[in-house]
Amino acid sequence: MEAVAAGASEKVYFNPFDAAFRANPYPSYAALRSKPPRTLKLFMPIVMVSRYADVVAVLQDQRFSADPKALLVNEGYEHVHGMLTALLVDPPIHTRIRRAVSRDFTPKRIQELEPRIREITRRLLDRIERQGTFDVIADLADPLPTIVLSELFGVPGDDYPRFKAWSDLITASVHIMPGLPLPEPISVAFTELRAYFSELAERKRRKPQGDLLSALVMQEDAERLTSEELLDFVIMQLLAGTDTTTNTMGNGFLALMRHRDQLELLRREPALVTKAVEEMLRYDGPIQANARFAKEDVEVGGTLIRKGSIAFVIFASANRDPAQFPDPEKFDITRWPNPHMGFGAGIHVCLGAALARLENAVVFDETLKRFPRLRLPEPEPKLEYGEFYFLRGLTSLPLEF
Ligand code: HEM
Repeated sequence: MEAVAAGASEKVYFNPFDAAFRANPYPSYAALRSKPPRTLKLFMPIVMVSRYADVVAVLQDQRFSADPKALLVNEGYEHVHGMLTALLVDPPIHTRIRRAVSRDFTPKRIQELEPRIREITRRLLDRIERQGTFDVIADLADPLPTIVLSELFGVPGDDYPRFKAWSDLITASVHIMPGLPLPEPISVAFTELRAYFSELAERKRRKPQGDLLSALVMQEDAERLTSEELLDFVIMQLLAGTDTTTNTMGNGFLALMRHRDQLELLRREPALVTKAVEEMLRYDGPIQANARFAKEDVEVGGTLIRKGSIAFVIFASANRDPAQFPDPEKFDITRWPNPHMGFGAGIHVCLGAALARLENAVVFDETLKRFPRLRLPEPEPKLEYGEFYFLRGLTSLPLEF
């Protein structure tokens, strides 16, 4: 796929299906940013929005919808039903659901998880030490977010293996093209997880505990979630909160290992970890882009985005825009302020940002303390990125300690 500037012949290579492009999409982003948003004429007009100011403008403009149903009136899309109805909808439904879930998904509740996140991280690091090898993805970044979410929802420990198996299958569903039927094991996982959570929610209603699920089922007013919305919300959290966190850790470790001066600085000043995590999200965050749908004609950065077309909003390009960030190609863990787009912006800004920040800060803090000689093997192994461009991340990252 090549992005062709309207009225110009200059082409920019842009192909999310190409492994080489996924390994380093940043030069293409730089080329895209050099001109006003370009229009691709594919199955429908798609406008590539790559500059920081333009990305912010689209995300904050209610004339753009986040709801794919606005355009893709397609039976097959039902398979991501949970994700669509939970939060990828427009106001006023979005406003009501977001308010209902935010009331209990508070920074205080997240902060209370810190000791548990530390304990879980240490347990995983113990295992890594015992086995003598360390793959950041398989041994740490993949298991951690699902364990944390299961605790947040109050899934009993004995049920965790089943929860993890469902979660893995459900998160795999994002790789399936909309419109194609879901493979049997994935659709079974959706059904079983929904049945499990509706029963768990019932138990929490009868005997509430300190977890998020108990808090959500105990909400009393008219704005509380319906049972269906609650199940959609759980699925949305799995889809939105697991691989994103995994890939932030993977990409973040890689950036640190490749910039030894920044690694040493963080070792000397561990309090920099929160700023370091923000810089990881800016420099190489996992969410590359997302779509918005124009409900009216809107002009953005000198390009007319016509009603009915897609604005392809490239968060990862905005994060390297020199008009916003001085020396944007530099990985600098002291960078501040750092108003990156790693969590998006506007009304759909990441609901799990506080949790994701905490998980990452704890993981980097504990891992660097545990392994004072952590490094990439030499020569650097060939690294591969997963096939899903939108959630760009490494399939494996072996480190030596
Ligand atoms: C470092 C890890 C994470 C990253 C990089 C990330 C990134 C993002 C981004 C960029 C968006 C906005 C998408 C858009 O506007 O199209 C978003 C939305 C969202 N995220 Fe995250 N996320 C992370 C972790 C989490 C976690 C841990 C959770 C929950 C447990 C979560 C839940 C959500 C939800 C529910 C939304 C939709 C919010 C809405 O539509 O109102 N995310 N995330």
